[in-house]
Formats: sequence, structure tokens, C-alpha cells
Amino acid sequence: MIHFIGAGPGAADLITLRGRDLIAACSVCLYAGSLVPEALLAHCPPGARIVNTAPLSLDAITTEMAEAHAQGLDVARLHSGDLSIWSAMGEQLRRLRALGIPYDVTPGVPSFAASAAALAAELTLPGLAQSVVLTRTPGRASAMPEGESLVAFAKTGATLAIHLSIHALPQVVADLTPILGDCPVAVVWRATWPDQKVIRGTLSTIQGLVGPEVDRTALILVGRALGQEGFDESRLYADDYDRRYRPRGTEPRFPEAT
Ligand SMILES: C[S@@+](CC[C@H](N)C(=O)[O-])C[C@H]1O[C@@H](n2cnc3c(N)ncnc32)[C@H](O)[C@@H]1O
Repeated sequence: MIHFIGAGPGAADLITLRGRDLIAACSVCLYAGSLVPEALLAHCPPGARIVNTAPLSLDAITTEMAEAHAQGLDVARLHSGDLSIWSAMGEQLRRLRALGIPYDVTPGVPSFAASAAALAAELTLPGLAQSVVLTRTPGRASAMPEGESLVAFAKTGATLAIHLSIHALPQVVADLTPILGDCPVAVVWRATWPDQKVIRGTLSTIQGLVGPEVDRTALILVGRALGQEGFDESRLYADDYDRRYRPRGTEPRFPEAT
């Protein structure tokens, strides 16, 4: 069995208990380079085969998995953050399906959640934003599908969590300013690592605030919700709101709960 495990955003204690226990139970561990904290590898059992897959091709990674499986060994496959976004898991699973090798997936803490926590920010504030768009700008190896432009997403008013794009900050600012004006922005660099940096600004100030050390492992968050002001309280906790766990009024909607 190949166990794909979300290794979290950086801090070694931000892995699920299930993920940790799977690492401890597998005699092979494949991990995706420097974004996976080395401290997680300490959970591998003594004598485990531990391979950094950063320099390997997809063929070579598949061979590692297939050879382990043929020997009856379980594999822990670690990727940073969560596996549902920009993990390259999809192509590995397709190879495994073709080879008839079983797998399962254990989620991890994604970097957008770790960054929001570093900011102590709720990204969906009533009246300001009720959606979060996890997106990126085009890269050397990855074009964006038509329609998935920053401009299109910005027009929705959703909070934008822009990955893999700190090198393109000037373009991000140029694309978003005509639509969002001087909107709040935060850049979180290496969220949850010991050297984490949190930079808050607006579309007009952020470029001057981000230093040269803020390189690849940074998330750009943009949206009115980041201002943390001018939003409504949620109805859920309003004293007069009739709900299942707190019936209100003469004809409560859920009388059986009383
Ligand atoms: C290849 S993607 C991996 C995303 C990952 N699967 C996730 O769940 O967040 C790498 C990008 O995620 C973001 N990222 C990953 N770890 C981060 C962290 N600790 N702090 C801030 N951004 C991070 C950066 O935008 C980086 O360029």
C-alpha cells in the first residue's frame, strides 16, 4: 500500500496523528524535498529507506513505489501542506492505478490555513467575503486554464489565496488594483517555520514592505476580509436567531429540540 500523507506547512507538530502513525508503520518513506520538515522523518522506523524525491523524475518515483510494493513493503509518501492542491499527487495516483498498486490519502494542514492562522484571520467574514479562491499565477511549467485569471477571481469579491506567485507580486498588484482598489493584502512567508514572517499592507504598499528574503515559500492573501473591520456578526450566534440548539419565539422551527 502507498500512503499519501499531507505533511503540513512546516512545523513538525502540524501533521495529523494518523499521518504520523503511518510514517512510523512504513519501511519506505518518500518525501518531497525541502518543504517537508526533516523532523517528520524522525518518525520513520529504524532502518527505513528514506528518499528525497526532489531530484527524481515521475518515472523514478513510480519505480521506487513499485519496487517497494513488489517486496511487500508499505510506503509513506509525504508532500507539503495538503495533497489536494499543487502536490503532483494526481499524476502519481494515475500511474499507481495503471499498475494496480493500492493507495490511500491522509490530509494535511494546507499553507493557506497555516497563513490565515499566522494572521489570526477569518477569511470568510459576513458581508465582506463568503468564498476563498485558492489560486496561482502562471508558471514556467504550468499555464493557467482559460477563465482562471486573477482579474476574473477578483471580480467575485472572494478572498484570494495566491500561491506560487511571490516572484510575480508586481503583476499581481497591477492586475488586482483596477478591480479592488487599495485593498488589504498580507504576505506570509514560511508560515509555521521558526523564521516565519507576516507582512500586512494594501495593494498600494505591499511591494515596498516585502523584502528580498521573502522568496518562493510565501502566500499572498488579498481581500477585504483581511482588514478585519466593517463586517457583520454572523446570525448563527445572534440571541434572537431561532436554531436547532437554541429554539426561540412562540413557534420555533425545531420544536422537538426544546
Ligand atoms: C507546490 S505548492 C504546495 C501547496 C501545498 N500542497 C499546500 O497545501 O499548501 C507551494 C506553494 O504553497 C505555498 N506555501 C507552501 N508552504 C508554505 C508556507 N509554510 N508558508 C507560506 N506559503 C507556503 C507557497 O505559495 C508555495 O509557493
